[in-house]
Amino acid sequence: MSLLCCRAGATRAAQVLDGLAARVAPALRDCGIQAVQVKSLNRRGAEYAEKDNGFLCVLCASAVRFFVLHVDTLVKCRDFIFYHPHEVGKNRMNPLDQIVTQAIADFAAAPDAAALENAKALYLGKSGQITEQMKSLGKLAPDERKVQGAVINVAKEKIENALTARREALANAQMEARLNAEAIDVTLPGRGRGMGGIHPVMRTWQRVEEIFRSIGFDVADGPEIENDWTNFTALNSPENHPARSMQDTFYVEGNDTSGKPLLLRTHTSPMQVRYARMNKPPIKVIAPGRTYRVDSDATHSPMFHQVEGLWIAEDISFADLKGVYLNFVKAFFETDDLQVRFRPSYFPFTEPSAEIDIAFGSGPLKGRWLEISGSGQVHPSVIKNMGLDPEQYIGFAFGSGLERLTMLRYGVSDLRLFYEGDLRFLKQFN
Ligand code: FA5
Ligand code: MG
Repeated sequence: MSLLCCRAGATRAAQVLDGLAARVAPALRDCGIQAVQVKSLNRRGAEYAEKDNGFLCVLCASAVRFFVLHVDTLVKCRDFIFYHPHEVGKNRMNPLDQIVTQAIADFAAAPDAAALENAKALYLGKSGQITEQMKSLGKLAPDERKVQGAVINVAKEKIENALTARREALANAQMEARLNAEAIDVTLPGRGRGMGGIHPVMRTWQRVEEIFRSIGFDVADGPEIENDWTNFTALNSPENHPARSMQDTFYVEGNDTSGKPLLLRTHTSPMQVRYARMNKPPIKVIAPGRTYRVDSDATHSPMFHQVEGLWIAEDISFADLKGVYLNFVKAFFETDDLQVRFRPSYFPFTEPSAEIDIAFGSGPLKGRWLEISGSGQVHPSVIKNMGLDPEQYIGFAFGSGLERLTMLRYGVSDLRLFYEGDLRFLKQFN
């Protein structure tokens, strides 16, 4: 902190006062005041005083004369020390004033909030100087205690005010520095917004729905967490049946009502039973959705998508399956020139059963067959589990892989690419 010394009074006293200022300086330094300037106290005195933290040191031959002449200046100062020339050199400050002055100087010298709090502790902390003063009150007589207590409180308040002011100043400086450091260059060109796109597998999903809706199929949605009965038993795969091992899956915590663990559905086929139990024949539905298996290679992913198809009525045959499915793939791939084959196979829930394969028409696997679907005529015991009479109702079902259809459509040789989130790959489909 620096302090402004003003000389006031008759001109003939000025020289004397300049000399005295030099003698005042060491005493002020004892109070933590570093720089001492001597100016003549005129109208600008208040301005200097305010700049220098509101302290004004007055060297004046006559206190009365000074007060009369400079009362305007004084009221603008936060505090002032009055030295009568005869007393210059003697330290007129009482111990509390010294503490206050020192505290203010320490606060002003604190470069940051942490240092400021350390400085605060020296005065207002548990064994700080003001606290010690408070403690010493106990030794005084009651009357004296009252007077001295008030004096200490005034000193304390001054220190607290200075602390608050310094805290604010440091916070403002910090904010200012941050604002400067984090300044935004508004002249930089904008980044623009990337255009999003629909994931290729979702495009397939949408296309499949459109095509089947156009030939009168309903679209249904079902749960991904299934119970053992709907995922397996109702589909003619009783417990311990070897066909279950083809569809190893993930079990979740919790059991179904029969005490069997809940699982992530391994195929969309449980939707055949769910839908048929809630709708009357004729039943004509597809059910697309996510499915899960313990699988992972270029043509298998642990999470993948299937679309189930089911048509049950009194006269739906395997020939209808072939007709509907061939029409679907021709519409999906937008060509009649497709190599499709129905390969005899086995599923517990269809009889007879077939896998449907399509050959790649483009890409690195051009000419190679890829299985896209299981299919077959719905087994009579499944018709029964649907709550229908197998003597009356008959129909077909299929379950096709949406990733596989997407691979064939775009000539992609590894379906894991769909799930790596590499934008260079995904952008090609927009
Ligand atoms: C089934 O899941 C039978 N539910 C299909 C079915 C439905 C048959 C109705 C008869 C009647 P499969 O396990 O073959 O069958 O799977 C069917 C299709 O799902 C496969 O042809 C393939 O396209 C796809 N698929 C199977 N596992 C995966 C996998 N791990 N990753 C990606 N696609 C898969
Ligand atoms: Mg298969």
